[in-house]
Amino acid sequence: MANNDQTKPELRTRSSLKEIQGIPLLEPIVTNWDRVEKFKAFPEDLLIATYPKAGTTWTQEIVDLILNHGDADQARRAPTHVRMPFLEMTAPNPTLSGITQLEKMGPPRVIKTHLPIQLVPKTFWDAGCKIIYVARNAKDNVVSYFHFDRMNLVQPEPGPWPQYLHKFMKGQLGWGSWYEHVKGYWRERENKPILYLFFEDMKKDPAKEIRRISEFLGQNTSDQLIDNIMQMTTFAAMRENPMANYSTIPETIFDRQASEFLRKGEVGDWKNHFSSQENKVFEEHYNTMMADVDIPFCFSV
Ligand code: A3P
Repeated sequence: MANNDQTKPELRTRSSLKEIQGIPLLEPIVTNWDRVEKFKAFPEDLLIATYPKAGTTWTQEIVDLILNHGDADQARRAPTHVRMPFLEMTAPNPTLSGITQLEKMGPPRVIKTHLPIQLVPKTFWDAGCKIIYVARNAKDNVVSYFHFDRMNLVQPEPGPWPQYLHKFMKGQLGWGSWYEHVKGYWRERENKPILYLFFEDMKKDPAKEIRRISEFLGQNTSDQLIDNIMQMTTFAAMRENPMANYSTIPETIFDRQASEFLRKGEVGDWKNHFSSQENKVFEEHYNTMMADVDIPFCFSV
């Protein structure tokens, strides 16, 4: 890792989890939940919804570039979380909450959320807002979340990997059950204005997925522009872009000695983390949990 400074950053107090309608969320989010409930969406707002670590930041960057016609300077006007605020996030400082930022912005706003579909404020449905949902295969998703919880000192302490995996399977991590999350949006994708994407498709054929996003947003994006956006949103390009790699978040919150935000960006990294026994138990449980739905997840490319 590039940082040779062995001094640990001053540790923040990690948040605990509390519940809203049975969904575990960071305690400050629960404390300030009435602000989420009372939020007013504009019809032009776009919501990017994901389970944590499914490719939110990547999708945000693609969307911002599409809406700005590939203008790289414009997309570098501010860090990701300022350009496209995180709806429910109030930690670590409620005065910097996503909603406080959003209230100062006019339409159209691009808004990030990790809320499961049943907790998305009604205003988004009433206003007819478009939603882009990104899903990532469960095994890579939990690995990415584990490393993120090691580095994000606002998140609950992840503890050892085997216990962490168990908590994921039980739906006990922040934002709840991955299984219910991906199923919730999947079931509504034909009744509501939802574009349902997969991280693995974005890896396999980014140009195709960028075009799908562009069409969903009603934008007429040329092949040349799609190609430019694809180049600007590769893992390598985003990792070098201070406005897309969360390097503006202080070390007291993101401990980069523990892990980078843009860590690997691969499909199949789970193979480096799951023991064969863990994989067996996980798959049995997965098959039970996903038996009632046929979502075409892909675990390697
Ligand atoms: P890894 O931890 O597997 O590397 P989110 O933005 O939802 O928090 O998701 C973060 C995950 O998406 C991280 O996964 C990160 O590396 C990956 N990611 C971000 N930008 C990416 C890109 N341009 N290409 C591929 N993966 C990307």
